[in-house]
Amino acid sequence: METIEISRMTYIDLESVCEIERIVFPRPWTRSMFEHDLARSGYTFYVVARIPSPSTDTRAPASRVGRGVLKHWRASLQTGRAGRIVGYGGMLRVGGEGRISTLAVGPAYRNRGIAKALMLTMAKWAIKSGIQWLTLEVRRSNLVAQNLYKKFGFYKVAVREGYYSDNNEDAIVMWTGDITSPNYKKLLGKTGRSLNINVIERIEGLVETDL
Ligand SMILES: CC(C)(COP(=O)(O)OP(=O)(O)OC[C@H]1O[C@@H](n2cnc3c(N)ncnc32)[C@H](O)[C@@H]1OP(=O)(O)O)[C@@H](O)C(=O)NCCC(=O)NCCS
Repeated sequence: METIEISRMTYIDLESVCEIERIVFPRPWTRSMFEHDLARSGYTFYVVARIPSPSTDTRAPASRVGRGVLKHWRASLQTGRAGRIVGYGGMLRVGGEGRISTLAVGPAYRNRGIAKALMLTMAKWAIKSGIQWLTLEVRRSNLVAQNLYKKFGFYKVAVREGYYSDNNEDAIVMWTGDITSPNYKKLLGKTGRSLNINVIERIEGLVETDL
C-alpha cells in the first residue's frame, strides 16, 4: 500500500506548492499569498501531502545543482521532510467557522485518496481547534471536488453568481453543519477507514485516535 505523509506547510514547501498551483488553477495564487497565510499560523492551517522517497532524498543532490537546491535538501533532512509534495490544502479559522481556502492534488497523483486524506487531516484539526462548522466555495462545473466535499458532509447552501472573474462562473457555497457532533466524527472515521493509502500524519497534537 502506498504511503503518504501529511505535515504542516512551511516556507520551504512553497516552491513545490506553487508549481502544482500553477498547473492546477486558472488563477493561481502567488507565493506571497501563501506566505501571507502561513504567517498567520494561529488562524490558518495549511498542510502538504508528500510521497516519501528516502532512497533518493537522503543522498546529497548532484554537485552541479544550485545552492538553493542543496539548502532545501538539507532543510528537508533536518525536519524529516524528504519526498515529493503531491498535494496540499488550507483552511482559515474565522470565529467558529473553518473556511477551506484551497485544495489541490497534482494531476499525476489523483484518484488515490490523497485529497480525502488532506481533507480528513484538516477536519480533525478543525475539531481539535474548536471550530464548529466548515465552509467553502467551489466552481459550479467542478463536480469532482463537489463529490469529494459531499463525502465530508458538505452540502450546497447558496450560489454566488459570476463569482469567478476569469470566466464569470458561479460559485457554489457549501457547508457542513456541526462538525463536533458524534455523527460527523463517525463520518470522518468511516472515510478514514475507507482510504486505500497508508497516511502518516506528522501534525503536532493530532493523533489517529482523535476520531
Ligand atoms: C479535487 C481534487 C483535489 C481531488 O483530488 P484526488 O486526490 O484525486 O481525490 P481523491 O482521490 O481523494 O478522491 C476523493 C473523492 O473525489 C471524488 N472524485 C475524485 N475523482 C473523481 C472523478 N474523476 N469523477 C468524479 N468524482 C471524483 C470522489 O467522490 C472521490 O471519492 P471516492 O474515491 O470514494 O469515489 C483534484 O481533482 C484537484 O486537484 N483538482 C483541481 C483543483 C481543484 O479543483 N481543487 C478544489 C477547488 S474547490
